[in-house]
Amino acid sequence: MTDTTNSIKHVASPLARQTLQDGDLTRPVAGVRPIRLLPWLQIVKIGGRSIMDRGPDAILPIVEELRKLLPEHRLLILTGAGIRARHLYSVGLDLGLPVGSLAPLAASEAGQNGHILASLLASEGVSYVEHPTIESQLAVHLSAARAVVGSAFPPYHHHEFPGSRIPPHRADTGAFLLADALGAAGLTIVEDVDGVYTSDPNGPDGQQAQFLSETSAADLAKFEGTLPFDRALLDVMATARHIERVQVVNGLVPGRLTAALRGEHVGTIVRTGAA
Ligand SMILES: Nc1ncnc2c1ncn2[C@@H]1O[C@H](COP(=O)(O)OP(=O)(O)O)[C@@H](O)[C@H]1O
Ligand SMILES: [Mg+2]
Repeated sequence: MTDTTNSIKHVASPLARQTLQDGDLTRPVAGVRPIRLLPWLQIVKIGGRSIMDRGPDAILPIVEELRKLLPEHRLLILTGAGIRARHLYSVGLDLGLPVGSLAPLAASEAGQNGHILASLLASEGVSYVEHPTIESQLAVHLSAARAVVGSAFPPYHHHEFPGSRIPPHRADTGAFLLADALGAAGLTIVEDVDGVYTSDPNGPDGQQAQFLSETSAADLAKFEGTLPFDRALLDVMATARHIERVQVVNGLVPGRLTAALRGEHVGTIVRTGAA
């Protein structure tokens, strides 16, 4: 139905006659909580530096654990980038490449790590899928297999925000954005430390680092030290719609990932803005 009473041809819609910039006007329509697209999906982000770069000693036990989890959960396994992305960043920075050119270079390493993991789980029907497939065909892939693997990097590429020369939206942020957009059951971040500490437990003042069993994105945002995940993760957690908490676990300790997916508190729980 169209309305041609003035020179603009309106389509009947609650948003048709107003600017999309006025929150008071859009809120009645746009303020509704989105549906959960894949409420049964568990997302697991595997660290590039903390797990994949360690080679077989770290990767094979995690692969074994993921294999045993398949009958229990349907998984989207997302991999991060590690040492090869750092090398790419340093070469690219020396050449003056902009942040939007560096982002896909790092993302390509996250993809390589995903391919490695998927190959090791291929006998279980698990394969690596590219971003466009995750966007539009994840459901059909997860009907055919208990898990798929993808790159955890968000596909910002040349759209990466220019504030920093190192892409700020990396694997942890990408994994969270996807988990929240899909309305997944949970996101578990796998690292090589027990969780989040008050300072880097492997840094020079590591002895003083205190373990945080539970914290919030809002509290961590006030914290100036380093973190075991992208700082931009805290920004996207602040506006989360579905994912209320994320657990950071130590993937070098057998059983921690399994326990986390079973809802046990075995690492650091970070509460988001959706909590
Ligand atoms: N506040 C912190 N709490 C825990 N670990 C931290 C903290 N700050 C820095 N780290 C370090 O982050 C490391 C993980 O590095 P990271 O770059 O996140 O790896 P990955 O690429 O695998 O995600 C840990 O081994 C730890 O030394
Ligand atoms: Mg990390």
